[in-house]
Amino acid sequence: MNRPPRGSSFRAKAPSFILHASSFNPQPPYQNCRMKVLIVGNGGREHALAWKIGQSSRVDRVFVAPGNAGTSVDAENVAVNSSDTDGLIKFSKQNSIDLVVIGPEAPLVAGLTDALQEEKFRVFGPSKASAQLEGSKVFCKEILRSADVPTADYQVFRDAASAERYIVDRYPTDDEDCPVVVKADGLAAGKGVVVCTRRQQALHAIDRIARQLEFGNSGNKLVIEERLDGQEVSLLAITDGRTIVTLSPAQDHKPALDGDKGPNTGGMGAYCPAPMVTAEMLSTIEADVLVPTVHALKRARKPFRGVLYAGLMITNQGPKVLEYNVRFGDPECQPILMRLKTDLMDLIESTIDQRLDEIEPLEWDPRPAICVVMASDGYPGKYDTGHVIRGIAEADARDDVKVFHAGTQLNESGEAVTAGGRVLGVTALGHSISAAKLNAYTAVRDIRWTGAWCRKDISDKALT
Ligand code: AMP
Ligand code: GLY
Repeated sequence: MNRPPRGSSFRAKAPSFILHASSFNPQPPYQNCRMKVLIVGNGGREHALAWKIGQSSRVDRVFVAPGNAGTSVDAENVAVNSSDTDGLIKFSKQNSIDLVVIGPEAPLVAGLTDALQEEKFRVFGPSKASAQLEGSKVFCKEILRSADVPTADYQVFRDAASAERYIVDRYPTDDEDCPVVVKADGLAAGKGVVVCTRRQQALHAIDRIARQLEFGNSGNKLVIEERLDGQEVSLLAITDGRTIVTLSPAQDHKPALDGDKGPNTGGMGAYCPAPMVTAEMLSTIEADVLVPTVHALKRARKPFRGVLYAGLMITNQGPKVLEYNVRFGDPECQPILMRLKTDLMDLIESTIDQRLDEIEPLEWDPRPAICVVMASDGYPGKYDTGHVIRGIAEADARDDVKVFHAGTQLNESGEAVTAGGRVLGVTALGHSISAAKLNAYTAVRDIRWTGAWCRKDISDKALT
């Protein structure tokens, strides 16, 4: 088996993933146009994408639909929601959009890529069929099993009663550890996964997901899998279905509170690179996880083109896949793009045109980056919105700092106000992880609104 080369950028190849690097040349269609790019979404990830894509010499205008207060400064906002397929097509036609980048999972799983492609737009994002890798946990597990990719053992259930029977038979009392994870099959905005330690929790999760249908049709099927222990890492790769270009590994912080305590969130901060992923581990993940997955999707006639994000648990037996996402992670995207020196449009266009084998090795800023998410009081539970945010300009003016907006919008006076749970992703580079952390938290202190809070320990995991 060929091993991917080590170095500042990583690319995977298996025997059928032949890669002849080094001749990517922004010839037509790459060099000619001053393109108009539309980015779909309104989070921190989409602000980071707009900021990075706007730096490309081939890009003239960047639109974000619907965007946030930050994208209204770094790009142009379009008042169309990411679920409004007809509205997005209409805008793209009327404004001669050259290329569309889809940020979030919901429109990908709903088939926005296919709908835009039918209208002859160039789109960066997987098809509806291959986005099932994120849209259905059952599909994902079946692909993993067929590709022999290391993952937690699992069972699929089509009704609550059989899932309950399985739990009760295996764990007759509630006094012992019940090391299972109960997952709704479909999308549930990150809330359809319950990691259990007691039988009662598993039974309660089954009831909420499959009887009360708290997540609607997403609970029509259930996956119950073995609970894995270890550290989680996010390994994102770009693939055109034949070649895989692995990005620098990152680590998210999903629990709300310091020390990974408290309820789960969309992600309270991230850093990149993640030193626990050694070059050797990276090669193993590429060979044993990414390559067989891309092959299995091809065999299933659902070739994958876009961002393949492996959520991995680094267990004592090695890395195992917890989940796949089919788009950039949020907030991982922010520190990853802060470090990426390569023109992101090179990656995007060569993926769309299936010329990823021609791309030069990626260039990275050697310095680590960290992103600290500032959130609204109450998040991930109920929170207010509409608080005026002060100090963003001061924070942004600092060297090696970029404030990416997430849940923000402009009020009638043109001020940025809070409009979501995760409000800002304050992202900074530094010569070491500690220096990047200091830079990010120094910038965080410039910013204030009523109820603002953040975790204080983003990136500490990297130092332990
Ligand atoms: P998923 O949407 O499948 O990634 O699950 C969301 C989160 O639940 C993951 O990021 C993990 O923190 C946790 N999780 C999922 N599956 C497992 C598992 N098998 N063992 C332990 N934790 C898990
Ligand atoms: N950072 C986790 C996610 O994007 O799903």
